[in-house]
Amino acid sequence: MGEHSFVLQGNICYSETKDRLSITDRGYLVCERGISRGVFRELPEAFQALPVADYGELLIIPGLVDLHLHGPQYTFRGLGMDLELLEWLDTYTFPEESRYRDLEYARTAYQRFAKDLKMSATTRAVIFGTVHGEATESLMDALESTGLRTFVGKVSMDQNCSDSLREESSGAALEAVLSWLKAAEGRYARTKPILTPRFAPTCSESLLAGLGRLQQETGLPVQSHLSENLSEISWVKELFPWSSCYGDVYQHFGLFGGEAKTVMAHCVHSTDLEIDMMKEAGVYIAHCPQSNMNLSSGIAPVRSYLEKGLSVGLGTDVAGGANLSMFRSMADAVNVSKLYWRLVDQRKRPLTMEEVFYLATRGGGAFFGPVGSFEEGFELDALVLDDEAITGVGSFSTRERLERYMYLADEGRLAAKYVAGLPIAIHKPAAVPAQPACAG
Ligand code: GUN
Ligand code: FE
Repeated sequence: MGEHSFVLQGNICYSETKDRLSITDRGYLVCERGISRGVFRELPEAFQALPVADYGELLIIPGLVDLHLHGPQYTFRGLGMDLELLEWLDTYTFPEESRYRDLEYARTAYQRFAKDLKMSATTRAVIFGTVHGEATESLMDALESTGLRTFVGKVSMDQNCSDSLREESSGAALEAVLSWLKAAEGRYARTKPILTPRFAPTCSESLLAGLGRLQQETGLPVQSHLSENLSEISWVKELFPWSSCYGDVYQHFGLFGGEAKTVMAHCVHSTDLEIDMMKEAGVYIAHCPQSNMNLSSGIAPVRSYLEKGLSVGLGTDVAGGANLSMFRSMADAVNVSKLYWRLVDQRKRPLTMEEVFYLATRGGGAFFGPVGSFEEGFELDALVLDDEAITGVGSFSTRERLERYMYLADEGRLAAKYVAGLPIAIHKPAAVPAQPACAG
């Protein structure tokens, strides 16, 4: 049967559509060579030779996709959460990212980040590095060894940031991207490069134009930030007075969807024009609710995005968001949508549990291809969730258990994790008891 072929048995949930969960209690999820063959109530004859991992009554769900986070910011999570975006960048983010010039520091920090991401519920992620090419390679090395599937970008920025981070010129910045791509070429099976202009304010027009050309030549995907915060948006208008909206700056240089698979983080204050452009170009939106609260950015109108049929996933935006938990991101997405409904627009009903689960699985998963579902043909990323400590003496349906796990994940336990059929070693080796045995 080849590698990564097996059956998982348990209480299996995945999104059929954004409004409907598929739930099969004590069902069988079949994986052949890393690809799902579907979920069955009875194990079909054809798969009976496969090894079965029986997880009893535990929950089995698709892996969670973090569509936007910053690897180097893992080190200072939780700092400056009383500041607004631009002040937070200057005070904490840029100084910390400068430290990644030191390759030893970068290696140590990225090992830690990759290890914690591996142990988390995230199976796929789209990640910013720093401007430093070699450090970004070390981030890719660390991630590759986790078994997770990621896109990783060396950041490009040649203006409006601290001297210690600013690339010398647009030419030097483009050269640096090329040498990073060359060094990374052929080295990774699971870790892919993505072009990463940090955000419009830190990129000169000539850098954006060069990255647009490079995108055309290479077909690489693109990630950046868009319409996150009001002060940032006015700054973009000053810097690019010709633009019809913030997104137009990226669009103008060929960095906004279409042939270029693109994910833009935030889109909290996108104008109607910008929303139409994203829809037209198939740009993915990474909704990062915790970050939007922490950095006083606002509430992204996700209900409208879903109504309009845009592609949306969820992100943590670490360190805008203080932790790696995609369960937290789902719960926060529900929470902020309720504030939006209550305080901003009562026609926009809050997101449901089904919808945020869809966003964290299929919504973001689509950026990676057929990912985020257990339907036949999807790459098989799965989590096995042990919620015994959460359930206690209660009696809950599988749907209720899943909803409670979103809010109470800290009290639950990730029992197993698979990415494209590969089992990920998430269990720490059993600790040797340190304390002397006590008698009686
Ligand atoms: N915009 C530009 N850089 C950043 C960053 O590092 N984090 C967030 N949240 N927004 C940004
Ligand atoms: Fe970000």
